Amino acid sequence: IAIAILMISVAYLVGSLSSAVIVCRLFGLPDPRLVGSKNPGATNVYRIGGRFPAVLVLVFDILKGGLPVYGSYLIGLPPVSLGLIAMAACLGHSYPLYFGFKGGKSVATAFGALLPIGPALAGALILTWAGVIFVTGYSSLGALIAVSLAPVFTWFIKPLYTIPVIMLSGFIIFRHHQNIARLIKGEETPIWSKRGKRI
Ligand code: G3P
Repeated sequence: IAIAILMISVAYLVGSLSSAVIVCRLFGLPDPRLVGSKNPGATNVYRIGGRFPAVLVLVFDILKGGLPVYGSYLIGLPPVSLGLIAMAACLGHSYPLYFGFKGGKSVATAFGALLPIGPALAGALILTWAGVIFVTGYSSLGALIAVSLAPVFTWFIKPLYTIPVIMLSGFIIFRHHQNIARLIKGEETPIWSKRGKRI
């Protein structure tokens, strides 16, 4: 129990490092919390600064979820604890201690936290996410459909982890409420159009 509580705290503190804000500062780009969708995440950094800074943010945010959960998995913590540690990393990302509690939507961080479940789940999620973005151009819709299917994929791959995954998915859907409203009204900004141009 003590180790689980320690790892939950570490995950929250690591998750709180808002890589989108840090990378934008390093690259001399505007604060992602103030421009575009105003979301400090890889998608918005892509809008602001293009591919390279966005990939950096994506990798860093994936590691924020992946490292604490994988470390805890290696020391033998049970699925319930791993679920709480994953959730703590996402809460850190979405409500960061060092950045005024204004964080992102936890898509990349949750994806990292799910990686220890194995390559089959990772592959299914990437294909769904990228497939929806390719067809529709909407990053948020790709994330929403991927996280909605994540519990179903998990049920088939490692049923023991289904409940923690439902928890993470519910949280991510909740964090996308503004995107959902924009998608319904047809006002969401796509990240690419059929002409292949970044928007
Ligand atoms: O990963 C976040 C994405 O789903 C939505 O980002 O910037 O379009 O609100 P954004």
